[in-house]
Amino acid sequence: MIASYVRKKYGINLEKKQFLIESKLWIELARCKCDTYSEYWQMLQNDKTGTLEQRMVDRLTTNYTYFCREEAHFSYVTDQVIPKLQRSWTENINIWCGACATGQECYTLAMYLMDCQKNGTLTVPFHILGTDISADALKTAQKARYDSKDYARLLLSWRSQYCGPFENGTFEVKPLVKKNIDFQKHNLLNPMVMGEQFHIVFCRNVLIYFKEEERNQLLKNIYREMLPGGYLFISHTETLQGTQLPFEYIQPAVYRKPEGRKNG
Ligand SMILES: C[S@@+](CC[C@H](N)C(=O)[O-])C[C@H]1O[C@@H](n2cnc3c(N)ncnc32)[C@H](O)[C@@H]1O
Repeated sequence: MIASYVRKKYGINLEKKQFLIESKLWIELARCKCDTYSEYWQMLQNDKTGTLEQRMVDRLTTNYTYFCREEAHFSYVTDQVIPKLQRSWTENINIWCGACATGQECYTLAMYLMDCQKNGTLTVPFHILGTDISADALKTAQKARYDSKDYARLLLSWRSQYCGPFENGTFEVKPLVKKNIDFQKHNLLNPMVMGEQFHIVFCRNVLIYFKEEERNQLLKNIYREMLPGGYLFISHTETLQGTQLPFEYIQPAVYRKPEGRKNG
């Protein structure tokens, strides 16, 4: 029941992962004072506030991420994408990190782009929208307070420029970086309602949790939100093979929506 509901609504494939579901949800059952999964399922369906469902999503999602993950993507953005966008006289650069988890991917991008603004290779403003279905992960992203493991992954030059001091085992990303980013809850299986279109989309390490049907739905939704000529970054462990969408392959894990193509 729970596995097929989660797959249908959020795309996450937990079928044949009964043990994993139980090990992640037992605490919710205890919290709801339910003895069985059918009792919990009933309670969840009767909860019109959506609170129980959100807590379930928070437990079932894997929000693992870190600063500078798959670093080659960030260099590709600064060395290849930004110069191209600059030449096209764009007034600002719009970026979407779907499945941003606890935010490190968005902050990494922001710090790379701020470096570009400092060295003059980027002369226009940029905005990053970070979205995810996990409310807990988004709370951490908004706070932007991280621990020593994250600190160790920051480029040395970023530590004082873009982050507060490392104290009592944590540090915070400075407001000058945060102001470039907004976080919002969004399910990638649903169409976007904001009407924004993006020059760059990061959608990394989420396709692996999906089966083909939901993966195709997600990619269709992303394709629609990309500007012609826009870039899509997926993880190096993922592929777009099998999709009918006319993405142009650029290099492993980097794709482009063809120039001059709206949504067909
Ligand atoms: C492993 S993290 C990836 C984080 C980051 N993109 C990275 O590569 O480091 C996967 C994220 O996908 C999110 N996710 C799973 N299904 C989703 C959906 N249908 N819509 C939006 N986000 C989803 C999870 O909540 C989780 O935070």
